[in-house]
Amino acid sequence: MKYYVLTLFPEMIQQAAGASILGRAAKNGFIDVETVNIRDFSANRHRRVDDYPYGGGAGMVMEAEPVWRAVRSVEERLGHRPRAVYLTPQGKVLNQTMVEEFAREEELILLCGHYEGIDERVLEETVTDYVSIGDYVLTGGELGALVMIDAISRFVPGVLSNEESSQFESLQDNLLEYPHYTRPEIWHDRRVPEVLLSGDHRKIEEWRHEKSLERTRQRRPDLLRKSYQVICVYRGGEEAAAAAGLLTGKVTRYGKLLDFNRKKLRKQRVSLGKQDLLLLVLPGRQEEEGDSESFRNLRGDESPCVLVWLGEPEPERKKQLAELLEKQGFRMLAEFFLEKEMGEAQAGELALGIRRKLEEL
Ligand code: ADE
Repeated sequence: MKYYVLTLFPEMIQQAAGASILGRAAKNGFIDVETVNIRDFSANRHRRVDDYPYGGGAGMVMEAEPVWRAVRSVEERLGHRPRAVYLTPQGKVLNQTMVEEFAREEELILLCGHYEGIDERVLEETVTDYVSIGDYVLTGGELGALVMIDAISRFVPGVLSNEESSQFESLQDNLLEYPHYTRPEIWHDRRVPEVLLSGDHRKIEEWRHEKSLERTRQRRPDLLRKSYQVICVYRGGEEAAAAAGLLTGKVTRYGKLLDFNRKKLRKQRVSLGKQDLLLLVLPGRQEEEGDSESFRNLRGDESPCVLVWLGEPEPERKKQLAELLEKQGFRMLAEFFLEKEMGEAQAGELALGIRRKLEEL
């Protein structure tokens, strides 16, 4: 990933991006943070880049021309126009899904304003994304740019070592992470929770999920409304089972897989709530038993639903299944059509697409 940070204070960026994990990543060639000093593009002999606001009022405004030239200098060197982010409290508040999406770019321009802001006209001509790092006002965009660089770089392959990287992120599920413990077992008369010493991985995972929910309820109830438990129902052969497992693992840490090839499961009532997401993975080729029979016991409560077809189904079948699911309490969020075998990269992309859809709800 290559970042171009357009700023009046390049040393602020270079200092912070040269240290710790970002510094190591740059040294190893996984990221590159280049600063472009907007002052170098001033047409003024005093290198001035700001002026008084039309209409009066307090503060100064950064002129359009030097910003325009700085942006163009990057675009001309690259031969194309990368996404250009303007850091501003008026932007969309950065979250983990946005971070993962930005991480898919090859290059990013991060434009840092100062004073009262930048002349609107150059923003209209150059900026593709307006991003805020939170609902408070900073003295300039530099700290915001650094926050973005830090959070995005964690998703750039090679930046984090295996130990540092967590495939399952706090916040991936819009849940806070469970509490962590290390030795000693007893400290200040406080014991490490017994279950963590049990060696029973299923139980430990359940405990962690429970603690995550409890914490989020107590500390960030606002997140809980955006958090969905993923229930993946699949039918079909090995490819379907593999795709269901891979995809569910990428969408959520705490997914449930239901193998609907098993008749017993198809006969049971499976009820989903408002905060449950149904992920339905199906082969495009019709099973002997029709969909209306296979899925008659699935019930939603306005539960979101994502359909993933492995291979193209008959149009009529697609329509009928969508109608059936709607009748049974699901609302269709998205439908995806894939080749029979799903690869790691494709699953990652699809998972991000699903999380983005959930965030729009
Ligand atoms: N510049 C000033 N305040 C900011 C904020 N909250 N986020 C991003 N850039 C900013």
